[in-house]
Order: sequence, then C-alpha cells, then structure tokens
Amino acid sequence: MTEYQKKIKRVIITEDEIAAKIKEIGKEIDKIYDGRPILLVSVLKGAFVFMADICRAVSVPCEIGFMCAKSYYQGTVSTGIVNITMDLDQDVKDYHVVIVEDIIDTGRTLKDVVKLLKARNPLSLHVVTLLDKPDRRLVEIEPDWALFTIPDFFVIGYGLDCGELYRSLPYIAEYNTEV
Ligand code: IMP
Ligand code: MG
Repeated sequence: MTEYQKKIKRVIITEDEIAAKIKEIGKEIDKIYDGRPILLVSVLKGAFVFMADICRAVSVPCEIGFMCAKSYYQGTVSTGIVNITMDLDQDVKDYHVVIVEDIIDTGRTLKDVVKLLKARNPLSLHVVTLLDKPDRRLVEIEPDWALFTIPDFFVIGYGLDCGELYRSLPYIAEYNTEV
C-alpha cells in the first residue's frame, strides 16, 4: 500500500449512498421552487463535485455560479480566517439563490458567504450542504438541507481534500491522521 492509500482510513459514505441522497434532495429542491429558475452558487473548491451532481438532479431551470472562499487550515485544524478570493458574475438580486456547500464545520465560511449574498438582496436564499459536522460549530448557522450529518472527524473525497489531495475519490472517507 502506498503512503497516499494508507491515509484513506475507511469509507464512511459510498458512491451509491451519495447518488441516492442527491436524487432525493433534487426532488425536494424542485418542489420548493416549483418551476421557478434558480441560481446554484458553489463555494470552490470543495463543492465542485457535489455541484456537478446536484445541478443534474434538479429539473427547474438552473444557472450555476462559482465563488471561491478560502478557509485557512493548519493541517486539519481551522485557523478561523476566511477570504473571498473570487466572486460571482451574476447579480443575485434577479435570482432565487441556492448555496451549494461541501461541508459545514465551524460554520464560519458559510456564515460569511450567506452574509455577503444576503446583502445583495437575492429573491430568496437557501443553503444545501453535502455534509454537516454540527459538533464542531462555532458560529450559529443552519443549512436548509444537509445530505449527511457526520461526527467530528476529518473527511476526504468527493471534492473534499486534505492538502489539495483526495478530491477525486468517488466516495467519502475518513482521513487517517495517525499514519
Ligand atoms: P468552516 O468555515 O469551518 O465551516 O469550514 C468549511 C470549509 O473547511 C469547508 O468548506 C471545507 O473546505 C473545509 N473543511 C472542513 N472540514 C473538513 C473536512 O473534514 N475535510 C475536508 N475539508 C474540510
Ligand atoms: Mg468549502
């Protein structure tokens, strides 16, 4: 086994489980918007895989937009510094916006992004997150939809990285901090 492989401790959510849940949430999103067009806003980079799947699971007319928010980590520990490094090209006041997040950990990144977008007066604003780690929350923020709630451990795969690696795994795995 390579060093790279050793860090993948165990699969916690399989490809099939992710796919089934995305289908379900796609239908819920369709129900809420009822034919009205939406703008899916993905917070890069972690949400890029989830974004690609969720946009194909909804049937309402849908635009996509990207923002880059960087939360600074020292290894697997958040430093609490969040920076918006790339902004949307759409003017959100014309849109029903759905923020697409990979994971809510301390909640700081999402809180900043929500605050920024709300100040631009979208028609409505909802949040869908792939993963939620509520035990780690440091600021008050709740997603409208969380596909999976997980305990406090560091996860990789399906867009989520450790040191920019492992984003390409098709499943979500626990990261092995011990090897
Ligand atoms: P927050 O601002 O602390 O909520 O951090 C959110 C961001 O930190 C996420 O969008 C991820 O990019 C990253 N992050 C938090 N927890 C994990 C994890 O377990 N694995 C990989 N990235 C994580
Ligand atoms: Mg993220």
